[in-house]
Amino acid sequence: MLYIGIDLGTSAVKLLLADEKGEIKKTATRSYPLEFPQPGWSQQDPQAWYDQTMDGLKELLADCDRSRVAGIGFGGQMHGLVVLDQDDRIIRPAILWNDGRTQKQTDWLNGEVGRNILRRETGNIAFAGFTAPKLLWLKENEPENFARIKKIMLPKDYLCYRLCGAFTTDASDASGTLLFDVKNRRWSAKMCQICGITEAQLPAVCESYDVVGELLPSCAAELGLPSGVRVVAGAGDNAAAAVGTGTVGDGACNISLGTSGTIFLSAADFRMDDNNALHSFAHADGRYHLMGCMLSAASCNHWWMDEILRDANYEKAQEEIGALGENTVYFLPYLMGERSPHNDPLARACFLGMTMDTGRKEMLQAVLEGVAFAVRDSLEVARAIGCAPTATRICGGGAKSALWRRMIANILNMRVEIPAVEEGPAFGAILLAAVGCGEYPSVEEAARAVTGVRGIVEPEAELVERYEKRYDTFRRLYPALKEVFPLMTGTEER
Ligand code: XUL
Repeated sequence: MLYIGIDLGTSAVKLLLADEKGEIKKTATRSYPLEFPQPGWSQQDPQAWYDQTMDGLKELLADCDRSRVAGIGFGGQMHGLVVLDQDDRIIRPAILWNDGRTQKQTDWLNGEVGRNILRRETGNIAFAGFTAPKLLWLKENEPENFARIKKIMLPKDYLCYRLCGAFTTDASDASGTLLFDVKNRRWSAKMCQICGITEAQLPAVCESYDVVGELLPSCAAELGLPSGVRVVAGAGDNAAAAVGTGTVGDGACNISLGTSGTIFLSAADFRMDDNNALHSFAHADGRYHLMGCMLSAASCNHWWMDEILRDANYEKAQEEIGALGENTVYFLPYLMGERSPHNDPLARACFLGMTMDTGRKEMLQAVLEGVAFAVRDSLEVARAIGCAPTATRICGGGAKSALWRRMIANILNMRVEIPAVEEGPAFGAILLAAVGCGEYPSVEEAARAVTGVRGIVEPEAELVERYEKRYDTFRRLYPALKEVFPLMTGTEER
């Protein structure tokens, strides 16, 4: 049979068609705009997600035997707040995961409500990108919109609702709302009360591989698909990517270098670090994971190459980079503030350590290294609580760069395994759909049967040592600058 994987990303929706063995038949991509109405704000029109997905699906399905399509799965950008009124109209643009407008509400949750209550109710503390602070922001700043809310959804759940009519989410994505009791996989009544909402406004929570409905007849007709195509709940993009790279079960690791950068550590049981610097979330395989999320990863490279250098030739620019581990320039990748591990929406990107002979190649090298150092910051938190994987899979646009993979291997001192299929979340979504349709008994078995490795990057002892020294400098930079970021952003009164 054939399965469709839909990865609802921040810049584009990526669509994948594959069979139950994971053999890819076709891919299609459609992009949509991202609005930054104020510095640090980030929003998107959910209608554009739907329109572009439907348009892309037509291309995806153009020359396949549509009668063989059995199921659809999702991976989606996490934490985004989508609100619908009683007639299912979109009330306002979705506020996205990398939006930093909610500092006041985040501080109130962590301070007034208190971290202990948040930890007890959800297993996490508040971060500006999470959904609950967004709801509080809406209540305070757009009360008329807040009063109209009938349904609260996460981005991929909106697509799911439009395609099959099910008002559902899955445990991995629900984990990022701060309304969800992650350990027990159910909504927290206390958090709903704190945010002024009722559970009836929230979607029903399923596991990622659960079938939640069938493609609506109107959508099936528009796409030329048969009736009875099953739709599974899907997962947050990081959990979906982890499934797609085989990061399932206990003790596996995946790094994603997309718009955001994440390090994902799968775990059999629920666990938290003392400061909740890492997120403690549910996994799409029915278990749990720890995750560090950097708000800007491959987007730092895009910003530097496209916006600043206006140079589209990424490969050539990277070829010019010479010896690794010797650069004196540092880059702090906080273009959108930072989530893990600093939890500081006011942090800003910086270059440090330039001299008169610093050129564009040293600066580019610093950008790529800065992202890898920031991933290491989160890995160190995991290592401190005994989570010390020796190898990681890697995915996302940034992972296509051999140079960046080598930096990751040496800066983290880990073996980097390049997955045979690099489609990350969309491939994971395919596997979730295949499990939902009965092709495999579990997500773990599907991932083990279908995912593999096509290459390995080993850390090199000498480079590891050189980078160790440089990381020791890098990790001192944020604490040294922390106090000045509020002055830069005009929020020093905080
Ligand atoms: C994870 C996170 C990002 C988005 C990107 O917590 O915020 O990785 O899911 O799409």
